[in-house]
Amino acid sequence: MPDALDLLKTRRSVKPIELDGPAPSAGEIETILTIASRVPDHGKLVPWRFIVFEGEARAAAGEAIVAAFRSKYPQANEEQVAFERGRLARAPLVIAVVSRAAPHVKIPEWEQVLSAGAAAMNLVLAAHALGYAASWMTEWYAYDRGVLDALGLAANERIAGFVHIGRSHAPAADRPRPAIAEIATRFA
Ligand SMILES: Cc1cc2nc3c(=O)[nH]c(=O)nc-3n(C[C@H](O)[C@H](O)[C@H](O)COP(=O)(O)O)c2cc1C
Repeated sequence: MPDALDLLKTRRSVKPIELDGPAPSAGEIETILTIASRVPDHGKLVPWRFIVFEGEARAAAGEAIVAAFRSKYPQANEEQVAFERGRLARAPLVIAVVSRAAPHVKIPEWEQVLSAGAAAMNLVLAAHALGYAASWMTEWYAYDRGVLDALGLAANERIAGFVHIGRSHAPAADRPRPAIAEIATRFA
């Protein structure tokens, strides 16, 4: 188990296609969701929820993506359709973080949305802490009403991200990170 600071310093995304099984166990998924739920939440509104896609359910969700894709691109060839069908089956586990932000007398919607982002980040870090790699993605289908309906999202709900989770055997390649001097200033 890596030290917490090492963990936070080394987290990086791994492409869904590079995420292999085995998927996290039921107990590990419970741990991931518990940690994802432990985020700042102004007003204690719980303005987010999670949808777990594993096993055969990933392909079933892929059919909803295919239906939306075919209606947008009726000329699409079978190779393209097959790719869309497999969108949520690239990694052994996908967890959607759903924002439930809605107008409230006291708590701005913006803060509710931020809490959903925090939940997604905690989810990613929990997976990392358990030895998995993850990729927080939205992609086009996160914004398609037909797909959202098929996944059971209400009118005010939005996908904060589909977090793809699995084991990574790819060589560790990072990307350049911003220099702190460029992103942090001291107010004076
Ligand atoms: C809300 C959100 C949605 C994202 N959606 C995508 C996406 O659809 N496709 C993609 O390649 N990266 C997406 N990313 C970026 C990746 O999660 C990741 O941050 C990026 O590839 C950089 O890698 P890093 O996490 O190692 O810094 C998204 C990030 C956020 C915060």
